[in-house]
Amino acid sequence: MGYNVDEELKKVQKKEYDVLIIGAGGAGLRAAIAAAEAGVNVGIVTKSLLGKAHTVMAEGGAAAALGNVDSRDNWKVHFRDTMKGGKYHNNWKMVEIFAKQAPDRIRELELYGAVFDRTEEGKIKQRNFGGHKFPRLAHVGDRTGLEMIRTLQDKAIHYPTLHVEMETTITKLFVENGEVKGAFGYNRQTGNLIVYSAKSVIIATGGFGKVFRVTSNSWELTGDGESLAYREGVELTDMEFIQFHPTGMVYPNSVKGTLVTEGVRGEGGILKNINGERFMFRYIPEMFKDDYAETEEEAERWFKGDPNARRPPELLTRDVVAKAIRAEVKAGRGSPHGGAFLDIASRRTPEEIKRVLPSMYHQFLKLAKLDITKEPMEVGPTAHYAMGGIRVDGETQETNIKGIFAAGEVSAGLHGANRLGGNSLTDLIVFGKIAGDYAAKRAKDASLKSISDEEIKEAIDFTLKPFDDSNNEDPYQLHAELKELMEEYVGIVRTEEGLKTAIEKLKDMLKRADKLKAVGDTRKYNSSWHQALDIKNMITVALIIATAALQRKESRGAHTREDFPETDESLTNVLYVISKGDDGFPKVSEATYPPMPEELKQAMKEAEEA
Ligand code: FUM
Repeated sequence: MGYNVDEELKKVQKKEYDVLIIGAGGAGLRAAIAAAEAGVNVGIVTKSLLGKAHTVMAEGGAAAALGNVDSRDNWKVHFRDTMKGGKYHNNWKMVEIFAKQAPDRIRELELYGAVFDRTEEGKIKQRNFGGHKFPRLAHVGDRTGLEMIRTLQDKAIHYPTLHVEMETTITKLFVENGEVKGAFGYNRQTGNLIVYSAKSVIIATGGFGKVFRVTSNSWELTGDGESLAYREGVELTDMEFIQFHPTGMVYPNSVKGTLVTEGVRGEGGILKNINGERFMFRYIPEMFKDDYAETEEEAERWFKGDPNARRPPELLTRDVVAKAIRAEVKAGRGSPHGGAFLDIASRRTPEEIKRVLPSMYHQFLKLAKLDITKEPMEVGPTAHYAMGGIRVDGETQETNIKGIFAAGEVSAGLHGANRLGGNSLTDLIVFGKIAGDYAAKRAKDASLKSISDEEIKEAIDFTLKPFDDSNNEDPYQLHAELKELMEEYVGIVRTEEGLKTAIEKLKDMLKRADKLKAVGDTRKYNSSWHQALDIKNMITVALIIATAALQRKESRGAHTREDFPETDESLTNVLYVISKGDDGFPKVSEATYPPMPEELKQAMKEAEEA
């Protein structure tokens, strides 16, 4: 044994917060601001550095019906677009709150100091994005997430009751009698172990794209929050819905999957196959025919500003575009590196491209030696976003365990079966604030509960297990195997046979994960230790995804089953809720949302006519 639990117990640091927030991306920071404003003591822990969260990778903008560029826009149209994009599987209550509160959250961000691009009259400029009927994305060139994080952290750090703990990984939540008591973690820099007592805990750790080989996600997105919560009895849902962003880089191999913002298509970029065909006209689903141009001539009228023309099919929802590119490649019409061509060079002047898409210009120049002002890019689908995650109450963001809240990508419900681009950044600030408000409210009424030595010893053992001398599994090898398996069996298109194979293999991997071994015995910046703990989370989450995907016997949004290619209308409102079974493996039950009230149905009708 490379450690002694009783000795470690004596050295554990102890800290207390009213509200503990795990994750310092947009949702975590906005929650922290809300809780600090409510006057409680807030701790925010991040396994990364402040300002480095994955939020910075959301490029194209934050959606809100401000109506600055097209005055026909309003919350009802945003509500309808989000429901339609999510294939009506969304939690309508969350969508209603979201669409109504989004404009205030964006304007508030501006008051905090965010410098958005401007219209000629000086209003926040908004750009087109897939699935949004009107130009709706407030943006800062193609660096919107970065500006959001910069703004929120500048605001957050000025609250004297808000404490940031960087490079700290949480490995366990303490729960007793259906109520949270705190969390356990370690500092990555020093290796010190820490017990946090807290009255409320907000999970804001993002998604889990790192379970896939081709992904736009950064190193942090390893399903920590989903996995931590699941292990303590928190319910997850919609885990079968994984968004493959249609446009990731496809070469060079070293950067395969890196995001190419949808802003390129929002600014007029078009997709072509190897034969030079603008193929998206062939892939407009029946449900979108009213909104999308069926001829190049009409799409061009829209591009030139005709308000009565329908939108070009390149701006269809991401699930549709990703599957269309995949189909072109499978039919032998892909680009040389197995994707499609994305052309902005023939649509905008070099000056315009450099002004509105500066990161894309530099990204391709530096990484692919390609000048996008002169040549088309090559792009293909990349695992980008988890629609599913922790099941929350739509109005408070609280989970089935009292005092545990979740916000942002780690939570489920808002986006249904497919998220619209730009709804993610806004999700962070709308529901981050709500989670912070309610977590603080609870903290004011609750008291800190004691955490026993036995509970702490269990957490120490879990956290230090990779230093057990008898362990022998290589975390990097297991991660490589996991990524291949997920690409092969649980990717864009799935089958019963493939999913069953995946589940068997993942169960075996989960057992192997108990034997993961850290290299060396230092705890200071030991990346193999971090990786060993992350891998366990990733395998746990991967098994949940495959289990949920096997259960959903239809194709809907981002979940496509080759053996069930049609959408089954009877499943629109059926949620697969995953919790930990007595055998330690995921257990599935069914739930539904209450019926949508008449006034929201009416709002959708009005939006159709807008
Ligand atoms: O394409 C993008 O810029 C990504 C934005 C998003 O996922 O919301």
